Amino acid sequence: MCGIVGYTGKSEAIAVLLGGLERLEYRGYDSAGIAIIENGKVVVEKKVGKIRELVRKLWGMPLKGTTGIGHTRWATHGEPSEENAHPHTDEKGEFAVVHNGIIENYIELRKELESKGISLKSDTDTEVIAHLVALNYKGDLLEAVLKTVKKLKGAFAFAVITKHEPGRIVGVKEGSPLVIGIGEGENFLASDIPAILPYTRKVIPLSDGEVVDVTPEGINIYDFEGNPLTKDFMLVQWDIVSAEKGGFKHFMLKEIFEQPRSISDTISGFISQESEIFINLKDYRRIIIIACGTSYHAGLVGKIWIEKYAGVPVEVAYASEFRSGHYPIDENDLVIAISQSGETADTKFAIQGVKEKGASVLSIVNVLGSSIARESDFTLYTHAGPEIGVAATKTFTAQLVALYMLAVYGLEEKEELYERLINIRPKVESILEKAKEIEDIALKYVESKNFLYLGRYLSYPIALEGALKLKEISYIHAEGYPAGEMKHGPIALIDSKMPVVFVAPKDKVYDKILANVEEVLARKGIVISVGTEGDKVLKEKSRDFIGVPEIEEDLTPILTTIPLQLIAYYIANKLGLDVDQPRNLAKTVTVE
Ligand code: F6R
Repeated sequence: MCGIVGYTGKSEAIAVLLGGLERLEYRGYDSAGIAIIENGKVVVEKKVGKIRELVRKLWGMPLKGTTGIGHTRWATHGEPSEENAHPHTDEKGEFAVVHNGIIENYIELRKELESKGISLKSDTDTEVIAHLVALNYKGDLLEAVLKTVKKLKGAFAFAVITKHEPGRIVGVKEGSPLVIGIGEGENFLASDIPAILPYTRKVIPLSDGEVVDVTPEGINIYDFEGNPLTKDFMLVQWDIVSAEKGGFKHFMLKEIFEQPRSISDTISGFISQESEIFINLKDYRRIIIIACGTSYHAGLVGKIWIEKYAGVPVEVAYASEFRSGHYPIDENDLVIAISQSGETADTKFAIQGVKEKGASVLSIVNVLGSSIARESDFTLYTHAGPEIGVAATKTFTAQLVALYMLAVYGLEEKEELYERLINIRPKVESILEKAKEIEDIALKYVESKNFLYLGRYLSYPIALEGALKLKEISYIHAEGYPAGEMKHGPIALIDSKMPVVFVAPKDKVYDKILANVEEVLARKGIVISVGTEGDKVLKEKSRDFIGVPEIEEDLTPILTTIPLQLIAYYIANKLGLDVDQPRNLAKTVTVE
């Protein structure tokens, strides 16, 4: 969940590292630090808080050095503090390490180090790496790292520098992401592409079990045994402008507004990839969709579409729960893994498990070359572009688009169904044009302490997603529920202070959900509804009504989710919260 960046070349490393960390801050942001080799010494500077705190600390103390590593942290082992912030060093301060992921056997390693008289300064699992590399160092950093890696258990990526070999960075990938950026007379290393995108578009995503030796002159990749490997670089298609705010107050708002483009790009991306899909959904006895959070909600919608169009039974499971269960699964099953980042640990480990049992894995992923993409038999890319706001928005609608197209691509009438999807763009734009109206509605509810979100059928996952968006960025308690289940319990919560958001477009369950609206009104609940434009009946029953353009029932989730994203955004923004980096969350969840 943390962000790593490394630079070695001819320029001052500090500028590259701090810029890279700012672009990585969405990965974790409770403390940050850098280590630079300056005049033959490893100089480390750290600060608790956001990157800007570190930048302030470094103001007026320009570190001179052309090789360095940086880190932004999302605490796993040890509270956010300067001692626990990275980089970590060995006792003499000759080696510095930044690390992302978890060293599972660190307690054992700490004890081993302590028995050798080494005293550790932090509570982290990372610090052991610095001491082990120092102990293993016999004049060659690569060799020392290769020796160290054999002692480590867990899922991690890390980078090491040493004063003994200025100009050299050695990086390791085992379970957490690490990409190499190739420049001219300079090279880079980072946990995510945006960190290095201003400098290069040539990247090599490392695979698990690989070590990279980076110098200004070149990069060399090895397996953990030290055997050299040859890997081709990939050219990143998007540019840094698409990863910057472009005039919006927050990335989240920008990303919500990018949806007409990201939806269109995902449609055309699917069409251009379609001929390569060798998996026919109908060939499987059962499909299991595995995902977490927002991606799980996309999976719930996907289930309805796939069962309707492909006629194959679908189960949807939280990746974390799936892993603990005893699913009988074999080569007759297809697993669809959905993950924006392509790095979510629970999802990744779940698919590793199912592959061992012979099932095929198709993944729907947004990040090119990510671990889940590489571990799947086939990957469908969503073309949402980089999503920086921690709350998933444009990647969710892109996942819906990919799932819909996947569900229908085997049908004779697929062209007609694709056409309907292609025509959705102006409808999405017209919802975004109502942003001010939606903001005015949202602001009426800033003081509310609880929200219920209700939907049926295709709108039930959208109710779940609306509630998740609100709680994660506004810290207001919100619960999503199937509207028909309300009478089995949650109805007891309804009183005159409870806003109930109904997702109720005109679809086959419309009449039923109107009855649920009545149930809420009868208990004096406040009804806010997202329905079909021109629906006078629902509007009359609602304290506030947001209309989305009329569309085929199947495509309603792609539209109804947008007002809910905006409601969450405007409430959190009004509360003055850090919308893009909500507390306790990270964009890429690489811990289990
Ligand atoms: C919520 C959100 C998370 C992610 C979840 C899975 O807005 O972003 O719930 O959806 O952490 O992440 P991915 O899709 O990267 O596997």
